[in-house]
Amino acid sequence: MSRPETLTAIYPGSFDPITKGHEDIIRRTLRMVDRLIVGVAHTSTQVKRGLFSVDERVELIRSVFADDDRVAVMSFEGLLVTFARAQGATIVIRGLRAVSDFEYELQMAQMNQELWPDIQTVFLAPEVDFSFLSSSLVREVAALGGDVSRFVSPPVLAGLRSRLGG
Ligand code: PNS
Repeated sequence: MSRPETLTAIYPGSFDPITKGHEDIIRRTLRMVDRLIVGVAHTSTQVKRGLFSVDERVELIRSVFADDDRVAVMSFEGLLVTFARAQGATIVIRGLRAVSDFEYELQMAQMNQELWPDIQTVFLAPEVDFSFLSSSLVREVAALGGDVSRFVSPPVLAGLRSRLGG
């Protein structure tokens, strides 16, 4: 497979909500590709019921990356590989925080490769300061009144406060 002129990657996930760990992965990806589509999945195996709606998550990510026109934010339904192909993206980006992430991530990468052999999954390691961070922990800490301002950007913090109070 030849390299496309514009290298487009997809960073899929639940992003409920986007954290500074996700932001770090997005910035690292932008050093390697021309264009990045952040894909907010309507259905994820991880999140049953969201704190934010999919449209709200998309808007929060857009507000964090409003200054960078290389980043597009979209939601998608159905298979990731179908979405990737429709967007002309051949690279899937996933962050790997710890070994515990690895088994699930490898299974997904290999299944996606079975479904569409042109897709390549690239795993990136986040900055070590963010290796403990997850959206679910941010939701839980914020819901219990803890300070999450170190873990999310200002628009997300404002969203959490308006959703959860405090
Ligand atoms: O942030 P998450 O919840 O770990 O992201 C999981 C996600 C959205 C990447 C995964 O559930 C996904 O790709 N969903 C789309 C449906 C799909 O393609 N499923 C088969 C994956 S092998």
